Amino acid sequence: MHLFAGFLLLFYTIGGTNNQQKPPGETGDKEGKIAKGKVLYETFACHSCHGKKGEIEGDFSNLNLRYTESELKAYIQNPRLYDNKQMPVYEGVINETDLNDLILYLYHLGEGLSD
Ligand code: HEC
Repeated sequence: MHLFAGFLLLFYTIGGTNNQQKPPGETGDKEGKIAKGKVLYETFACHSCHGKKGEIEGDFSNLNLRYTESELKAYIQNPRLYDNKQMPVYEGVINETDLNDLILYLYHLGEGLSD
């Protein structure tokens, strides 16, 4: 029993170090982040209003030219700032890391739409 607990602890410790987050500013795996952003886009039900690519509400084309990263974050966190009364306020709902991945995905979508 004790041995088993020891194994669990060892396992947990190793897992913990592997999962350590990269310090901000490190690029990491961009494709992976975009893929995660795509999952988040569905998890937070963005697609229920915007469709798969923003074809229903709004327009995601060239988002990178229309919003800086911090503007886009502010928009998603509080659409009321942009006089959007329909979209839910996501402040406190989506954490910072997820928001970054989501934004990468939106930019990625927008690039695809521009050509
Ligand atoms: C309840 C419906 C609804 C949901 C859910 C929703 N949105 Fe929106 N969103 C809107 C509406 C309506 C607009 C404004 C469209 C317009 O101005 O033409 C908008 C606008 C936007 C814009 C700005 C588009 C532009 O061209 O300026 C972005 C970016 C955006 N939403 C992202 C998201 C993301 C990311 C999520 C999920 C986290 C989300 N939205 C969830 C309804 C929604």
